[in-house]
Amino acid sequence: MSTNSPSSTTAITMLLYLIRATGAIFPIYVGYLTKLGSSLFSYHPFFMTVAFTGLMTEAVFMFSEASLAAGRRHSTKITAHWFVLLLVAVAHSLGFASIYINKELNNKPHFTSWHGSVGLVTSVLLWAQLSVGVFAKYPRILSRVMQARTVKANHGLFGMVVFSAGMITIALGLWSTWFQNNASQVVIYSALVLHISLMFIVCKKFIKKYA
Ligand code: HEM
Repeated sequence: MSTNSPSSTTAITMLLYLIRATGAIFPIYVGYLTKLGSSLFSYHPFFMTVAFTGLMTEAVFMFSEASLAAGRRHSTKITAHWFVLLLVAVAHSLGFASIYINKELNNKPHFTSWHGSVGLVTSVLLWAQLSVGVFAKYPRILSRVMQARTVKANHGLFGMVVFSAGMITIALGLWSTWFQNNASQVVIYSALVLHISLMFIVCKKFIKKYA
């Protein structure tokens, strides 16, 4: 049973709406900053922020009272959750391919910066989570080795790790030479606060639920 008062529930819902709005605005701003379409590189920050700041935030909050599927049946929320994650997979693939091919074309070495290395780890974790996510939907497949409740808890906790890794990678991306040279300090620090806050809100939510 929830212990939140009606006014604190409204405040939390408003906060979630604000987070979702910012999650939509930031990728649009990054697209404007990169002059989307002007170079192969321009697709990388755009699609990665679409994937993590925008879509993954939507997917993670799909079961909250401020989500796209608020008020719908639980099964509808699950369908919306995995559908948005499919879009995450597409956006991430485009973001990853654009930076990788761009480096190949320019004869530059791969994964040399902290952002690039942590980004690679995040990408592997993301695809691992997307691949095993099917077990959270059909936990009976693992019934011989794990209870359904444990499968779902593991899915939630691993999802929290992937989401946090995404937020950290973006924070490191904000300190890439390109971002530092193109964005103002106000934008850089606001974006840092946004992504670190998102990470803490999601961690708190999942730790409270499963730990
Ligand atoms: C605001 C968002 C982002 C910006 C501004 C950004 C910017 C950059 C820049 C300038 C590079 C080339 C220099 C370098 O290697 O560090 C790069 C590389 C890279 N980024 Fe990002 N990035 C962002 C988000 C992400 C995210 C969310 C991921 C992964 C989940 C990611 C994964 C990578 C990887 C793996 C590389 C290295 C690719 C290679 O060496 O072949 N980036 N990014």
